[in-house]
Amino acid sequence: MNTNYLAEVKTRKTFAIISHPDAGKTTLTEKLLLFGGAIREAGTVKGRKNSKHALSDWMEIEKQRGISVTSSVMEFNYSGYHINILDTPGHEDFSEDTYRTLTAADSATMLIDVAKGVEAQTIKLFKVCRLRRIPIFTFINKLDRQGKEPFELMEELEDVLGIRSYPMNWPIGMGQDFCGVYDRHNHKLELYNPNNPNDIDVKDVSGPDDPLIDELINDEALVNQFREELELLDVAGDQYDKDKIDLGELTPIFFGSAISNFGVQTFLEHFLTMAPSPTPRNSSQGIIDPLEQEQFSGFIFKIQANMNPAHRDRIAFLRITSGTFERGINVNHVRLGKSIKLSQPTQFLAQNRSIIETAYAGDIIGLFDPGTFRIGDSLVEKDTFEFDEMPHFSPEHFAAITVKEALKHKSFEKGIHQLTEEGAIQLFQTYNKVIEQQIIGVVGVLQFEVLEHRLKSEYKVDIRLERLPFSFARWIVGDEKDMDTFKRMQRNLVTDRDGRIVALFENEFQMRTAQDKYPNLKFYENSYIKA
Ligand code: G4P
Repeated sequence: MNTNYLAEVKTRKTFAIISHPDAGKTTLTEKLLLFGGAIREAGTVKGRKNSKHALSDWMEIEKQRGISVTSSVMEFNYSGYHINILDTPGHEDFSEDTYRTLTAADSATMLIDVAKGVEAQTIKLFKVCRLRRIPIFTFINKLDRQGKEPFELMEELEDVLGIRSYPMNWPIGMGQDFCGVYDRHNHKLELYNPNNPNDIDVKDVSGPDDPLIDELINDEALVNQFREELELLDVAGDQYDKDKIDLGELTPIFFGSAISNFGVQTFLEHFLTMAPSPTPRNSSQGIIDPLEQEQFSGFIFKIQANMNPAHRDRIAFLRITSGTFERGINVNHVRLGKSIKLSQPTQFLAQNRSIIETAYAGDIIGLFDPGTFRIGDSLVEKDTFEFDEMPHFSPEHFAAITVKEALKHKSFEKGIHQLTEEGAIQLFQTYNKVIEQQIIGVVGVLQFEVLEHRLKSEYKVDIRLERLPFSFARWIVGDEKDMDTFKRMQRNLVTDRDGRIVALFENEFQMRTAQDKYPNLKFYENSYIKA
């Protein structure tokens, strides 16, 4: 094995930041990019928090992206590592894309607002990470403000997400009383200076009982509380266990304040030594390990349409799973059974996109897509293996779709087909109904407007959408007899694009009732079905 190749792969860290809007993802990302020198000043990564759920906003975002593809993947170098941060759109453009992006990450950073704790969107994204058992690192943000007690947050992680935690550092005070954090591993005290947060004073101490801490903090009650908490943590808390961290069963916690840049560098440095380098992926030919396999291979996990109707080009995002990518390389497009040349690859920086010459396992490249790619496609240099299918996730909003003018039916079908392949929408077909109907499912409600808009502008088709009251889709699996009964008796069944049976439910109660009635059937939240 080429040692240069190994060195390139081992120093790569590809991860996503998962959080609920407003937890500080944009702020944290920006600080990380500043460390890496990828940007020069704060405010470069656009926050989108105040945008309303409106189509115009989406178009604006898409327009910006069409030109610069600014924030889909951000890459930078730091301390000998090559880091790729995958953006997980979380505001008005939360969609299935957000989930799928996580399939391209090797680990995730879960960002939590100290005052809010675990919030709805974090739960959804966490579940997707759980599916793949990737390591999850937790950054508890906004310690400069009053929030929940650290122990309460640890309990919340366990109760709500089912993950145990190991604090890597521990805060001393919070909000107005925030004095800093104590690094449990390196026995360092990082002192917070509210008047100049960027000026971080780091002191080596012999342990939590070091009298230097009393001297530096000069608040007896706070220091006593800190010592008691740390003792409790040592006695009753989980032990540090790298294997459990690697399996996503234990999350290391870091406390800090992204806006003041406090705790960010410590987080980054620990993260880089603990997070995995590019991990193996399953394929039809068994496991493809980037450290053993020098043949180029990768899969498409996201397709970004350009809103500009003048050029209907799209960018397909490919995660390199093994080998070295060289511009102009010929690869097998396995699904189509043909060889294609990758001549105009794009790599993403924080500010602009540039043509790249070389990339390695773990990297993300953008491929110009004239309509050749579909989510989940495998591209392989010599062999013809395919990576595991990309899962579909339960949409949360549904609508029956019809075309207004029957004569436009062909364009309509073409448009819907295209948008389904891009992964913007999921298309279902009613099952066992006298009149067949097509049903669209989306994760973010804005996608309906996007769908209407794109069909009209790109395919000249007007559609009618009739919202349906469902909130959940479950992929149903079981033996033939049980399935037969279920198919006969259960209402609101549909089939997905691949003909799998999916049940739609309005609420959790309905869903539980069905589960109780059919205990032998499995109800999957996504199409990632493991029989
Ligand atoms: P997001 O991408 O996760 O949605 O969050 P974003 O970084 O945009 O941060 C949301 C708000 O939280 C912003 O305030 C941001 O300044 C603030 N914030 C981020 N990190 C910290 C922190 O460590 N401490 C405190 N106190 N605030 C933090 P905003 O008022 O909504 O916007 P802005 O006017 O500051 O830009």
